[in-house]
Amino acid sequence: MNLFRSIYTSRPFGFDAAMLNGILADARRANTRDGITGALICREDIYLQWLEGPEDKVRQALARIGRDDRHLEVKVHVAEPAAERVFGDWAMLHDPATSWIWTQQDVTNDAVDRATPEEVTSFFLRLRDKMSAQGAN
Ligand SMILES: Cc1cc2nc3c(=O)[nH]c(=O)nc-3n(C[C@H](O)[C@H](O)[C@H](O)COP(=O)(O)O)c2cc1C
Repeated sequence: MNLFRSIYTSRPFGFDAAMLNGILADARRANTRDGITGALICREDIYLQWLEGPEDKVRQALARIGRDDRHLEVKVHVAEPAAERVFGDWAMLHDPATSWIWTQQDVTNDAVDRATPEEVTSFFLRLRDKMSAQGAN
């Protein structure tokens, strides 16, 4: 398989539990169909999402996600071939991002615009390590 990964950030447009549950249900249904796995870090001020899977499927998912009116300002930070999956056990892991990404103040101060691919990648690797430490993987 031609494994590919992408990471984007966006700004939630209306954020509450019902909307988040709807997004996760849509994501998990489509991703199970498409062979995509990944993680969604979700907070009222920002989404960061890691998608991995067949390149054509990841690109198609990104295109649909980009048209979704439940968020704004979708910005792709990483789109590259991948040697292996990082979130292979999850159709879409979700995490409330309490401590290891930017603070809300950082986000207000344009951290997203200054972000490097390495920085956004590192958030997800920390999340993966946290899941491993919990014995979930
Ligand atoms: C923050 C966010 C994350 C999403 N994550 C995914 C995802 O991982 N995979 C996916 O297929 N759709 C995801 N979606 C939903 C898509 O935008 C879309 O609703 C879904 O793919 C169904 O598309 P369709 O109605 O054209 O079939 C996400 C949407 C949002 C707002």
